[in-house]
Amino acid sequence: MTVDAVPANRVVHADNLTLLASLPDACLDLVYLDPPFATGARRRSTAGHAFDDPGDLATFVAWLRPRLEGVHRALTPHGSLFVHLDYRAAHYVKVELDRIFGARRFVNELIWCYSIGGRNRRAFGRKHDSILWYARGPDWHFDADAVKVPRRAGSHMRVERDDDGAEVQVKRDRKTGKEYRYPLAAGKVPEDWWTDIEALNRSDRERTGWPTQKPEALLERIIRATSRPDDLVADLFCGSGTTAVVARRLGRRWLAVDASADAVRITRRRLAASTP
Ligand SMILES: C[S@@+](CC[C@H](N)C(=O)[O-])C[C@H]1O[C@@H](n2cnc3c(N)ncnc32)[C@H](O)[C@@H]1O
Repeated sequence: MTVDAVPANRVVHADNLTLLASLPDACLDLVYLDPPFATGARRRSTAGHAFDDPGDLATFVAWLRPRLEGVHRALTPHGSLFVHLDYRAAHYVKVELDRIFGARRFVNELIWCYSIGGRNRRAFGRKHDSILWYARGPDWHFDADAVKVPRRAGSHMRVERDDDGAEVQVKRDRKTGKEYRYPLAAGKVPEDWWTDIEALNRSDRERTGWPTQKPEALLERIIRATSRPDDLVADLFCGSGTTAVVARRLGRRWLAVDASADAVRITRRRLAASTP
């Protein structure tokens, strides 16, 4: 298959390992993977659709390994992989990713914090996911300006007004006396912990009924930061199609793959109902 023949703007019903084997080298610019989390659970949507989640960690990692290797081969030199996990599997998968991509290609562990869901009476609430970001090569794409967030006025820095009246955060280096000035309106690059994107609640208008659906805002930040218009963005565990919908809206080419016929149907329906 030539790079021109790579399936783009398509929802593919397949095991992603089979799909990966059919792709040429270096054809995907950004890959987001949100695999079943090794909970051992059978996940069920509100409509009763279900998929199995490989139970124990060793089985899960062995199952995921060839998929991570396939993605490594299929990424373009400036491309990136994001693997969305939680506290159960993140550390085991990181060891695999360090081996496949090289520890120097580990860019960020993004901590996505949310608050909804059940409470634990015997431990601190487990209210974050870990998203591991690996780059294919040393020159990964990162557009900091595309994802800036507001600076918070309530930080330790004092706020002054510039000559034109604009608010500026001011920090003075005690040793050198040098002054740093950060206009509030210019925003800042987000940290690697994200508290400004809530998980979807049951009645959220984005909800499709797929049990593990992620918020569009989460994918939007990842896609804006690490891909360019017309790049090919692939989600090989697409579930309800969140990545495809957002990638299309942002002018990227996209590829959505899922082994479940229900997920494929929901993704197609969602794409048809949303504005390109
Ligand atoms: C955690 S969900 C993804 C949810 C998605 N991020 C969303 O926003 O809706 C994991 C998905 O992986 C799919 N899946 C599991 N094994 C797969 C495989 N071998 N190939 C492709 N998809 C698979 C499941 O059917 C399920 O839809």
